[in-house]
Amino acid sequence: CGIVGYAGPNDTVEALLNGLRRLEYRGYDSAGIAVIDDTGGVAVRKKSGKLVNLEDLLTASPVSAAGTGIGHTRWATHGGPTDVNAHPHLGDGGRLAVIHNGIVENFSELRDDVIARGAELASETDTEVVAALLGLETAAGKDVETALRDVAKRLHGTFTLLAMHQNEPGKIVAARHHSPLVIGLGDGENFLGSDVAAFVASTRRAVVVNEDNIAIITPDSVRITDFAGTEVSFEEYEVEWDAGAADKGGWSSFMAKEINEQPEAIANTIRGRIVDGHVEIPELTELGAERLQNIDRIIIIACGTASYAGMVGSYAIEQWARVPVEVQLSHEFRYRDPVLSDRTMVISVSQSGETMDTLMAVKYAIEQGVTTVSVCNTQSATIPRESDAAVYTHAGPEVAVASTKAFIAQITALYLIGLHLGRARGVLSAEAEAAAVEQLEALPEKMVEAVATHEQIAELAHWMADTRSVLFLGRHVGYPAALEGALKLKEIAYIHAEGFAAGELKHGPIALIDHGQPVFVLVPSPRTSPLMHSKVVSNIQEIRARGARVIAIVEKGDTAVLPFADEVVRIPLTDALFDPILQVVPLQWFALELSTAKGLDVDQPRNLAKSVTVE
Ligand code: G6P
Repeated sequence: CGIVGYAGPNDTVEALLNGLRRLEYRGYDSAGIAVIDDTGGVAVRKKSGKLVNLEDLLTASPVSAAGTGIGHTRWATHGGPTDVNAHPHLGDGGRLAVIHNGIVENFSELRDDVIARGAELASETDTEVVAALLGLETAAGKDVETALRDVAKRLHGTFTLLAMHQNEPGKIVAARHHSPLVIGLGDGENFLGSDVAAFVASTRRAVVVNEDNIAIITPDSVRITDFAGTEVSFEEYEVEWDAGAADKGGWSSFMAKEINEQPEAIANTIRGRIVDGHVEIPELTELGAERLQNIDRIIIIACGTASYAGMVGSYAIEQWARVPVEVQLSHEFRYRDPVLSDRTMVISVSQSGETMDTLMAVKYAIEQGVTTVSVCNTQSATIPRESDAAVYTHAGPEVAVASTKAFIAQITALYLIGLHLGRARGVLSAEAEAAAVEQLEALPEKMVEAVATHEQIAELAHWMADTRSVLFLGRHVGYPAALEGALKLKEIAYIHAEGFAAGELKHGPIALIDHGQPVFVLVPSPRTSPLMHSKVVSNIQEIRARGARVIAIVEKGDTAVLPFADEVVRIPLTDALFDPILQVVPLQWFALELSTAKGLDVDQPRNLAKSVTVE
């Protein structure tokens, strides 16, 4: 969920909406605001669905406030995405308003307590229980700060909480436990946010609120205490931010725009990191030569698309740096009691740098004393801030929920890391380095050609608009690319899709193949991996013999598949290791075109959030 708080003299509703517009990536099941309005009372407007629904409600039922307010955009956890379950929630007879990011795990026990003490609850949310608890405390005479401190100690789980009370206008009190919270320092106004996006349009001066602290803001003061009430000191920092106001720039969707930006995304990830033919990532150099030489195991942790980028990257890092690399989903990592040592490096991959599953896995890794490296696209996000080193992808803001250019940039960054480690560890030959660098530098131009497959794919998708199931096959680095192709289709076209390792098909999934079943096959380069190529061509024949409709993604000049494919999509020549970067592009277009054909919201698909900030 996304959280914003405002204390200052300006139009409070507008300040909150500005923040929420930038926070919508954290969820769009519902949105709501509470302000202390011009009459001095708490006014709430909240609505299920996307932010535009709240904006419409505010047009129909305006509220005027210049002072104090809190706003929330929700990704539903407890209770469905209804108006009633939307935040803010009220306590103390409507005099107190609360918003929350996270999950209160002991909420049913607390719920029994507040009901026994006479509170009436309207929603199914854990947050309303917190609002009721706080309300009981303020009704008994405590100020909000003391009440929140006392209540925070009783909560188990994860939370960022913001609370305000009409008896204390101009003040917002916030608590943080395992969920991010930052303060924005303005001129005669101050902000709170779940991340800097909440206020970056107004100020770039920020303060991170640490774990188990309480922050109290007014228009001209900021204080932070611990849960015991002791004042703690804090430091401000300057937020770096690509202000490039995210707008569609004539494209039909952000996703279409972002697919088109992929050549530039690769170029930006590489820029400044190849010096005299060598890959040099200063952030890794700063970790110290000895540390990099001693690494004996790398674990890549990530979720969703980022985990597939991690899988692609794992092949390249192993090849160049000769260190065993495994990829684990962030939410699986820490529960398996992983074998870690001070010679382990954990590389997290996250576009947003805010995904809670990944953040918690990184924190776990830090506690275990391993070296943590963050591959991230968002400056000043929580995960890169917590990690020992941050390798930013510089792909520019990604707005569409389904990741495209960030995925490509993540693979590129992981390849750069593999090359840097290979050299730092003295295991990368000059020839291998030169060949890889040449491929990397040529990628942006080749990506332009891969993007140009759009027209062919649009036509294909037009004929396949009624498809109910699609399979994707790949081998080696093509395997995670196949998984990514399937994920894209599920995410934005709501079509059942699965990706398989091509060699695994005959061990079970081939039973799915029936007459007309569409199967995308990512064919490795016949020049640079002839053995894999011939195996995949055999796999194509096996499925073709059973009635599959084969769409082959092949490199230019590959004619071996022509007799067996119903459709051939051609991508530029590169080395096998680099194939997935180009092969995935027609798959991105395919998902986008099917989503569009079905009349769906390409950029904000149902049930998803761009970054899921609960575990
Ligand atoms: C969510 C999104 C996915 C994304 C994943 C990881 O589940 O819906 O599209 O791949 O989070 O996001 P991150 O910001 O950590 O890369």
